[in-house]
Amino acid sequence: MSPNELDESAVPPSGDSRTTPTRRTFIATTTAVGGAVVAGGLIAGSPLLDTDEAVAADAAPASRVSLTVNGTRRTVTVDNRTSLLDLLREHFGLTGSKRGCNAGACGACTVLVDGHRVNSCLTLAVRLEGAEVTTIEGLSDGDRLHPLQQAFIDEDAFQCGYCTPGQIMSGVGCIKEGHTGSPEEIREWMSGNICRCGCYVKIVRAVEQTAGRK
Ligand code: FES
Ligand code: FES
Repeated sequence: MSPNELDESAVPPSGDSRTTPTRRTFIATTTAVGGAVVAGGLIAGSPLLDTDEAVAADAAPASRVSLTVNGTRRTVTVDNRTSLLDLLREHFGLTGSKRGCNAGACGACTVLVDGHRVNSCLTLAVRLEGAEVTTIEGLSDGDRLHPLQQAFIDEDAFQCGYCTPGQIMSGVGCIKEGHTGSPEEIREWMSGNICRCGCYVKIVRAVEQTAGRK
């Protein structure tokens, strides 16, 4: 065996071989000790849960919530982590509200809660006990479109349409809040709604015209 082939653990580079561990022996020792601790934990720890207990321990906490969506009272039991967007889309089949970023940055999921616009992807459903939620599906009056929906059509304020439900719900909120004094003000207060197709000029015009008709 050449010097280069010497076992590092057998011949420490320097010092007292009884007290100075090499990198290799150190790793080997700590790995063995760690394994023993883990194994000890599994063996000597709390007894294994039976199947029902294990399922109960794994189950996510859920809550019952009653809210009104587009004029209809709904009561559901949902995982506490469920967002309003998931509640609307996955539980109620209201897919008009879109998932863009799922992180509060694009506005595609905008709905009204008690008249205020919110990003439904960031709103926990279980916190909406007793709330009134309005989505794009609940905006028209039967076959009669909401004035802002009609204005979007008249102004041709969309291309792919993915952002449009969120833009319209946000526009309704913007008008209600009175932030429509000028195109610049509308632009500022609609800035949380991103349009990848770049329809901003026409979107602002649609909001402006609808606000002017109030
Ligand atoms: S999906 Fe909610 S803000 Fe983008
Ligand atoms: S119309 Fe396509 S993202 Fe706005």
